Amino acid sequence: MRLGEGAGCDGAVRRCDGPVRRCDGLAFHRTLAPDPRSFALDLRTADRSVIRVKTQVGIVGAGPAGLLLGHLLHLNGIDSVIVDNRSRAYVTDRVRAGVLEQGTVDLLNAMGVGARLQRLGLRHEGLYVSFRGRRHRINLADLTDGKAITVYGQNEVVHDLIDARSATTRPLHFEAKDVSVGALESSSPALRFRHGDTEHEVHCDFIAGCDGFHGICRPSIPAGVLNVYERVYPFGWLGILAEAPPSCDELVYTLHERGFALFSMRSPTITRLYLQVPPDEPIERWPDEAIWREMLTRMTTSDGWSPTMGRIIQKGVTPMRSFVAAPMRHGRLFLAGDAAHIVPPTGAKGLNLAASDVLVLARALKAYYERGSTEWLDEYSDLCLRRVWKAQRFSWWMTSTLHRSPDENAFDHQRQIADLDYLTSSRAAMASLAEQYVGLPAEVSFESAGLSVRR
Ligand code: APR
Ligand code: PHB
Repeated sequence: MRLGEGAGCDGAVRRCDGPVRRCDGLAFHRTLAPDPRSFALDLRTADRSVIRVKTQVGIVGAGPAGLLLGHLLHLNGIDSVIVDNRSRAYVTDRVRAGVLEQGTVDLLNAMGVGARLQRLGLRHEGLYVSFRGRRHRINLADLTDGKAITVYGQNEVVHDLIDARSATTRPLHFEAKDVSVGALESSSPALRFRHGDTEHEVHCDFIAGCDGFHGICRPSIPAGVLNVYERVYPFGWLGILAEAPPSCDELVYTLHERGFALFSMRSPTITRLYLQVPPDEPIERWPDEAIWREMLTRMTTSDGWSPTMGRIIQKGVTPMRSFVAAPMRHGRLFLAGDAAHIVPPTGAKGLNLAASDVLVLARALKAYYERGSTEWLDEYSDLCLRRVWKAQRFSWWMTSTLHRSPDENAFDHQRQIADLDYLTSSRAAMASLAEQYVGLPAEVSFESAGLSVRR
């Protein structure tokens, strides 16, 4: 990167308005970033260049958590730098979950990034639970005063948020190498990374660790600070995308004698299906014909319903775990999303929890910059964890009720069937599932995070 330039989206170059101070070969630049509190210092030696930038919030990770936070901060006039170690194509193409709670849809709309979601998202007002060969519908909207879920791939959410970030011209760096964070307990924590021969040093007021379960932020917290709560399940999900029109308008969660199966979709032409398999199952053991045979065996119901088959265009196996690291803060580092907690995918809560974390964080940062108040920053972890633990409980319950466990006995299986029988025959039980599935209320209002509510 040349003197007089700053990094824009996707490594693109953003011009600076020239040096404001020079001494001994150092150029001190004020950038054209939308927030005047950002500035860059470019130190150049013969063989390497170091760019020093000051920002308000350094965000590690351009997944849903990092991008949502960046945009919420932008809407409140708070500057940030977002850094991801993967490529833009990787984060937008990676197939992940696809169920948005009502509150997540409302949040994206209130943030002004919901146009494609409104056009392409598939709103579902119900879902099916299938066991003993029969499907039972749970009417989500009826049981929750009209709330619903929307099927819209996580990669599509990321796509929309990257477009929104690009439009702001605030920095978003992909393919960053050797990302690290430091000085977390000081008033100016640092975010460092490298692009080619250029070292970047971002001096921040705060750092948001939005870098997922395998990121570097959580491990940067000194040993002994975090309490970790974890459950690893003795099964995983084999997931496929198939070129086949969905044969049902809503999701079907199935418990079969041979294990769990899930019918979902991505669009009117793409079906998404999952199968319970051993956690370390090599995908090579599953040729396409074997996948279809097993899907149809588990999912076909006595009324003749089954998923429509089609060409498999993507397949993979994901292990399953429940994980919480608490507190979600150390010094000026705040963890959000998968960096702090993982849920098994059965309740479809992962992305939605990331969204509720960053709403709470955005509110707290807004209060800090507007009023100098640290009260909500101090409450951040406790407030998030209340919702996180309820989602953990729900996801654990969905998982243990719908999967066959290698260490279960006949009693356990009969209890599962009774659980599902109760669920599908009691309005109270269905209402409880519906309330949690469409999403429990956020811990803070949209208004407190600077959003006006548009529904
Ligand atoms: N440096 C920079 N970025 C990193 C690093 C690192 N060392 N490690 C990981 N990242 C990036 C990843 O490339 C990814 O783009 O952080 C991002 C984390 O995104 P996600 O894993 O998607 O996590 P999060 O944003 O918390 O989203 C919540 O919901 O459906 C669930 O688990 C699913 O990802 C999903 C999550
Ligand atoms: C998905 O469509 O990917 C999906 C749907 C529901 C879940 C998990 C994943 O519970």
